[in-house]
Formats: sequence, structure tokens, C-alpha cells
Amino acid sequence: MVGQTAAKNLQLKMEQPKMNVQKLIDTAKTLVASDKGLLAIDESSPTCNKRFAKLGIPQTEECRRVYRELIITTPSLCKFISGVILYDETIRQQKKDGTPFVQVITEAEIIPGIKVDIGAKDMAGHPGETITEGLDGLRDRLQEYAQMGARFAKWRAVLTINTNIPSVGSIEANAQALARYAALCQEAGLVPIVEPEVLMTGNHTLEQCGEVTAKVLQTVFQQLYTQRVMLEGMILKPNMVLPGLACPQQATVEEVADATVQCLLRSVPAAVPGIAFLSGGQSGELASAHLNAMNLRFKARLPWALTFSFGRAIQQPALELWQGKESNVSAAQQVLLHRAKCNGSARQGEYKAEMEWTKV
Ligand code: G3H
Repeated sequence: MVGQTAAKNLQLKMEQPKMNVQKLIDTAKTLVASDKGLLAIDESSPTCNKRFAKLGIPQTEECRRVYRELIITTPSLCKFISGVILYDETIRQQKKDGTPFVQVITEAEIIPGIKVDIGAKDMAGHPGETITEGLDGLRDRLQEYAQMGARFAKWRAVLTINTNIPSVGSIEANAQALARYAALCQEAGLVPIVEPEVLMTGNHTLEQCGEVTAKVLQTVFQQLYTQRVMLEGMILKPNMVLPGLACPQQATVEEVADATVQCLLRSVPAAVPGIAFLSGGQSGELASAHLNAMNLRFKARLPWALTFSFGRAIQQPALELWQGKESNVSAAQQVLLHRAKCNGSARQGEYKAEMEWTKV
């Protein structure tokens, strides 16, 4: 009831009769509910091909289809996964028996979503920095995806830490694009997943990552306010606060948890229902351990749910086991489900390293 009253008030206040506020709030809440999180299988075809190439898997559309079919038909996936993020190629694909992927996902009681940016491109006048593109024609694309059954969308901005970067120009341009994308999503009835990723590459310290991430998030939320995005109907997908991969001073799991939560508390309004981390190249085990430590130490005191929206940290072991072979599908699905389960436990602060030696 409280949620419904809040939705009605927001609807009146925002004077945007076209926007279905309650539907957005409900979808966002469902995506971050209980011990579930999101599974990102939204790698572009070139990125998916690169991962296949490393393992000697043929880089064809059919192989990519078979791999995504393996993932979305994993038995019991909905126990730990609330939403799956697809890519333009994938949302148009079907199972071998002809059932559309979107139908397979929906029937498995998982919410289908779609990546809608068209990638991070070199930013003019800003060497070493990128601006994410895809706003042109986005309104029409969102409508099409919504008609196909998508209920949420994702847009990723990429920020790099190095000497004198990220610049104000790059942070502001990327934040504004994220906010314009988010407003268009809500107009189309899709929950926006707002993903500003500060990369792990570099030799920066944990503290530097915390400062940059806070600056980026604060700029993103200023832009989200400016563009009249309804915070109750969105999800933030940030990086965890981590030292750069080449930093000589690495951090403990607890230090990462503390730095990440401190940064988020200083930057993310309480109206946002959930924060779903990207894994950014961390191993599956480490990503689970970090998420677990945050929930174990802070869950009771946080205004938003802390969950996962991992790509590699859930998929990688399954991809390595599958190797493109039909005979490995079932074993790969078990490994995928195991990682999903570990992250489900991490949401409750109940993940333990011993879980890595047990099967689902
Ligand atoms: O945009 C990035 C993906 O949605 C998440 O991938 O967990 O491998 O960083 P990742």
C-alpha cells in the first residue's frame, strides 16, 4: 500500500501521465528482491567472439546462439537470478526448437532486459577517454525492445583513471548521456540500469578509486535529477571500489567492502531501490567475497539493496567448461548455477569459501 501511495504521489508530482510509475517501481523492486541478482549476457558480438577465440570456440552467430541457449535454459536459474541482460543479436534469437529467447526467459520466471548503448567511442578532444554513444534513435529502439518483451535496459559509461583523467568533460558528458538514456527508458516503461564503470586498469590506489567513483556517481545523480529521472524506478550498476590492477598496494576483502559502501553512502540517494554491481574482471570467487562482505557488515544499515549484475564473474567458469561442445552443456550449466548460488548467498552475507567445493 505504501508503495502504491508513493507511486500515485510521484505520478501527480511528475505530471507525466504517459509514464507508468507503478510498473517501473514494481519491476525495479523485483529485480533487486531477496537473494537474487542480475546476469549480464549482453556482450557485443565482437566481445563475445574475443572470449570464444581465447578458448578455441568458433566465432559464429550459431555458436553465440548455442552458448546463450545453454545459459538461459539452465535449470533452476530463477532461484538466484531475477533478470537477464541480452544484446540486440540475442534478443532476436530462438532456442533450437524455435522458442524465442525472450519467451524462454519469461517462462523461467526471469525478467528479460536489453543493453541499448552502442559502445564507448573515443571522445573528441579527450585523449585516452571515451563517450558512450547510442542516443540517436533510442526512443524508437526502446519501443521495439519493449514490444519484444524487454522490461528493463542497460547503458554503460566507461571511465579510466590515469594522469589527469577522468576529466570533468568526460565525466559530465557520460553522466548526461546516462541520464538522457534513463529518462527515455522510463518513458518507454523500461527500468533503466545506469552503469557508470570506473575501470580496474591502472596503478591507482583504493583511495583514488573511491574519490573518482564518488565524483562520477555524484555527477550522474545530479544529471539524473536534471533530466527528471524517477529514482524509485531505476537501478544503479557501479563498479566496486578497488585498487588498480597494477597498484602495488592491494586491498583486503574488508577494505574493499568498507571503501565501496562509504563511497555509495556519500553518493547514492536512498530513493534508489537497489545497487547491482558489475564484476569488471574480478574472479567469480573474489566478486562473491566482496559482495558478501558488504552485506555481512552493512546490510541492516543500508537504504538500498546491494546485489550483483555480473557478466564474467558468473559466466567465465561455465564458458571455459563448455568449450563449444554439446557434451559439456549440462556440466557448464551446473557451474553457472553454482556461481549464481554463491552470489545469492553473498546477498545475505552467507557466502563462504567452502561453498566453492560444494555443488548446488
Ligand atoms: O557492462 C558490463 C556487463 O554488464 C557486466 O560485465 O561483470 O563482466 O564486468 P562484468
